[in-house]
Amino acid sequence: MYKMTAKISMVLIVCCIFILSACGQGSKEANSNGSDNKTLSVGTEATFAPFEFMKKGKVTGFDVDLLNAVAKEAGYEVKIKNTGWDTMMAGVQDESIDIGMAGITINKKRLKTYDFSHPYFESINMIVAPKDSPIENAKDLKDKRIGVQNGTTGQMASEALFGENNKNILKYETSAMAFMALENGDVEAVVTDYAVAKEYVEKNPDKNVKTIDDRTNFTPEYYGIMFHKDSKLKAKFDQALNKILDDGTYTEIYKKWFGTEPDVDTLKA
Ligand code: ARG
Repeated sequence: MYKMTAKISMVLIVCCIFILSACGQGSKEANSNGSDNKTLSVGTEATFAPFEFMKKGKVTGFDVDLLNAVAKEAGYEVKIKNTGWDTMMAGVQDESIDIGMAGITINKKRLKTYDFSHPYFESINMIVAPKDSPIENAKDLKDKRIGVQNGTTGQMASEALFGENNKNILKYETSAMAFMALENGDVEAVVTDYAVAKEYVEKNPDKNVKTIDDRTNFTPEYYGIMFHKDSKLKAKFDQALNKILDDGTYTEIYKKWFGTEPDVDTLKA
């Protein structure tokens, strides 16, 4: 009887070890973007309305709706976390995060480190300043204190005009903090993406601020979904993005957030 029980226990232990190691295998694949795992981790910086912002504890916005639609089409689920900009950038690079989705502009510098989907949105930098500000264009920002979000194209565009180590270019960790600095008078203008600038001015009539457009000194740029270099996801997401550009899903999401028709043809690959 004792021998019998011992034998059964042995068999059970062996079974358990086998099952446990099989599970371990599964979760390893889950983290390597392998096709077995369908839930992808997404990092963002959610103070960037209307692209991503927090609402009732959840990340909401155009980027969220778009990424959900693209991922669904590609056969994945996504879990979006407000990691902050730097953590998102580092996480996608070291592959602890699968995707960066934060109105991220595709540019040469970033393409050295990351892969991007095809463009999904055309943007350009814009100036936000107090209503009574004499600033008329980007050149007028000379010798003015400019607020930018650290590591963004707003910083790069300002530095391109006034020099990389210019003390007047003040860098903030989040987009919201740059706007707060403008409210406090710490900076005289903010340089940020046009849709974000417009949304901020529109939603804050009490702040007495305006947007200043300058299509001469700022140049158009395009947002992409960001992956680590050589990620298998790029091809799948590009295909899915094209599909939703074609079938009207993109248009529907765009209209929900911007209230106008998108120019889908310029985005189609
Ligand atoms: N498009 C700009 C860039 O890529 C700004 C993006 C900022 N995004 C954000 N979620 N705060 O540099």
